[in-house]
Amino acid sequence: MSLKLSLKSGFPGTWESLRLRFSKIRRLKKHLSFLFRIGLSKNHLVLFRMIDFARPEYTMLRPMRLKMLYDLSNNIKENGVEGNIIECGVYQGGAAMIMAEPHKEEIKSGKRKVYLFDSFEGNPAPSAKDGPEMQNIYHPGFAKGRIEKVREIFSRWGLMNPNIHIVKGWFSETLSAYPKNKIALIHIDANLYESTKICLESLADLVQRGGYMVFDDYGTRAKGCTKAIDEFFQSRQITPDLKTYDNFSYYYKKDF
Ligand SMILES: C[S@@+](CC[C@H](N)C(=O)[O-])C[C@H]1O[C@@H](n2cnc3c(N)ncnc32)[C@H](O)[C@@H]1O
Repeated sequence: MSLKLSLKSGFPGTWESLRLRFSKIRRLKKHLSFLFRIGLSKNHLVLFRMIDFARPEYTMLRPMRLKMLYDLSNNIKENGVEGNIIECGVYQGGAAMIMAEPHKEEIKSGKRKVYLFDSFEGNPAPSAKDGPEMQNIYHPGFAKGRIEKVREIFSRWGLMNPNIHIVKGWFSETLSAYPKNKIALIHIDANLYESTKICLESLADLVQRGGYMVFDDYGTRAKGCTKAIDEFFQSRQITPDLKTYDNFSYYYKKDF
């Protein structure tokens, strides 16, 4: 009725509000189909809200990868794995917030801390080990995030406190400042061979038994990333049992 009247009176706002309504319905349908695929639980309803909140402004990661990080984060909590939560390659903090959320209380009390490392200048230049294709895709400056956005998402979600450490700078200059405390969960999302390699060399041995290492881009056309991870495991004489939710990001549970 109101549409008819508005059409007659030629009121343009009606079309806009209809378009918005349809786009909301389409978005809801997309989220619901995602939730049905993963199976619902109370935790996942929180996850659903966080994904809706964080994408695309604060994270580049697709929902399945965010779900994987969230599940692993909940898993270290349930199993009482001690240690901090680390992300190398933060962009605007969406994935980091989702990893931190299950540990709100422990972070507040200082029992667990969060360290977030990024240049906030985007990627450095790829090396020859990243292959010719990546020279254009993961070019210098790719995925440049803003540190203020990281603070913003943590504050908006009620998580910002002094135990969230956001460390700006190139990994070659910042990772050595990590206080060598235990790590329960580390997400390495740094796109490139050299960047991934330095994260592994500096931090991976601090991951505790039962803790997780998560590698974005493993096995994809980002060949440098895969190479750095394979070389790391070879150097430690580990044949890792890598698992994935979506074939773009893999996790390894440290079992020794
Ligand atoms: C794909 S983005 C990270 C995406 C993020 N995890 C998310 O949730 O959207 C990769 C990030 O790694 C950072 N980065 C890559 N190599 C780096 C290096 N050597 N030192 C510091 N930061 C680096 C870039 O600045 C970029 O923000």
